[in-house]
Amino acid sequence: SDGKKVLVGGNWKCNGTRDKVASLIAMLNDAGEFPANAEVVIAPTALHVGKVLDEVRKDVNVSVQNLWSEPKAGAWTGELTVDLVKDFGINWCILGHSERRAYCNETPEVVGNKVKIALEAGMSVIACIGEQLSDREANKTMEVCKAQLDPILKAIPEGAIGRVVVAYEPVWAIGTGVTATPDQAQDTHKELRAYLSEVVGPKDAEAVRIIYGGSVKGANCEDLIKKADIDGFLVGGASLKDEFKQIIASSA
Ligand code: G3P
Repeated sequence: SDGKKVLVGGNWKCNGTRDKVASLIAMLNDAGEFPANAEVVIAPTALHVGKVLDEVRKDVNVSVQNLWSEPKAGAWTGELTVDLVKDFGINWCILGHSERRAYCNETPEVVGNKVKIALEAGMSVIACIGEQLSDREANKTMEVCKAQLDPILKAIPEGAIGRVVVAYEPVWAIGTGVTATPDQAQDTHKELRAYLSEVVGPKDAEAVRIIYGGSVKGANCEDLIKKADIDGFLVGGASLKDEFKQIIASSA
C-alpha cells in the first residue's frame, strides 16, 4: 500500500477477563519484531486499558473504543471524555463502530461530532462505516457509506486528515464468519477512495488509510492485504486469539 503503514487494529469489544488480558499482553510482548510497516493499535475495554498501557510493548498503540460527545471531564456518569483519555497518554480512539450505531443510537451526526472532538484534541481516529446486508442487496452500499462518511469528513479540522483512518466494516461480515471476499472489499474500498477524492482531493484521498473489518482471520488476511485499496484491518474476534500475530505479520 505504497508507503503507507499497514494499520492492524484489534478491537477487543466488551471482552477479556483479567487473566485473558494478561495472556493477550504476553502474546503480543512475546511476538518478536513486527514488520517495519505495521502500525498496531489495540482497543481493550475501559476497565483494562490502564493495565494494557502499563504492560504492553511500546510499539503497540492503545486505543479506546468510544468517546463521550463533550470534550471535557465533568458530570457525565458512565462516560469517558477526551481530556481524561489524553491524560493517560492514549492517542487513539475507535468511533462510530456499527455496534454503537445499532445499540447506542449513534447517528452519523453524533459520530461526526465525536470525530471532531477527538481530532481537535490531537487524537488519531479509526472511524467506522459500513452497510447492512439489506443495504447491499438493495445496491445501496455506497449510498449508506457516503451518508455515514459525510459528517465524518465535514468534522475534520484543517491539517488533521492524516490522523483519520476509515474502517470499512460491512455489518453482515462482523462476527459472522462471513468475510467480504477480497474482491468485494477491494471494490468498495476503491469506491470509497474515489468518493474521498471528490470530497477532500486526490492527494489526501490517496494518503488516508482505508482498513477492512469483518471476520478477518489468519486464514484470509494475506489475500485481503494484497488488494490495492486495503490498507490494514480492524479485527474483532481474531484479535483475542494467537492468530492476531499472524494478521500483524501479513503487513510485511
Ligand atoms: O471492529 C472489528 C469488528 O467489528 C470485526 O469483528 O469479530 O468480525 O472480526 P470480527
